[in-house]
Amino acid sequence: SAVDAFTSAHLMAPSRNKYNDALEFAYANALAKGLPDIASFPAQGKLLSIQVQVARAKNILEVGTLGGYSAIWMASGAGEDARVTTVEVDPKHKQVAEESIANAGLSGQIDILLGSGLDVLPELIKEVTAGKREPFDFVFIDADKENNLAYLELALQMVKPKTCIYVDNVVRRGTLADEAAAQHDTRIAGSRKLVEAVGQNDKVDAVVIQTVSEKNYDGFMLAVAK
Ligand code: DHB
Ligand code: MG
Repeated sequence: SAVDAFTSAHLMAPSRNKYNDALEFAYANALAKGLPDIASFPAQGKLLSIQVQVARAKNILEVGTLGGYSAIWMASGAGEDARVTTVEVDPKHKQVAEESIANAGLSGQIDILLGSGLDVLPELIKEVTAGKREPFDFVFIDADKENNLAYLELALQMVKPKTCIYVDNVVRRGTLADEAAAQHDTRIAGSRKLVEAVGQNDKVDAVVIQTVSEKNYDGFMLAVAK
């Protein structure tokens, strides 16, 4: 926490980010409306913003909108000519996210599609395959962990070569390495299955990075589509 406080004070000054108030509003609005406190933490939001900039991403896919916090970070990083398509299964989450995205002035750039990723992603694949939609050039998977592998495999069918796919929360306080824990926690089992399958998939290369933050000990997978 002390490291986060020191580095944030220097690198994340509110005056240097024109979306700072909108991000704080999105975070607080989600909590006020009873959404779970599992949004990305600020440094992680900024990491996503930096990654979409480096990738020059213009068609971003997110699975799991929650309150729109990470979508705002990505849209603000990617610029006015970029679009974030984000999938959310819970109508209440979608409504809260829409409020916060409108408050950020980003309604024109962020589209929330209501439905399960398992239903919506195949529809997006059809649109991309038919040439009705641009392929995606950055993917953030942050939804039900049981389907991490399914979402990654679906995403691989509608991305440009060299697209970065970021999968959140795969380390879960180190339980990723605990085979016994996976027996009674389907979220851990889902992330273990992801790591095992990606290791066998020639269409993708990946690494898992462990993180500590105000939001506990966790970590993410960063994959690149070949
Ligand atoms: C959980 C989910 C998340 O996406 C996250 O960032 C943290 C925790 C969870 O389901 O526990
Ligand atoms: Mg998450």
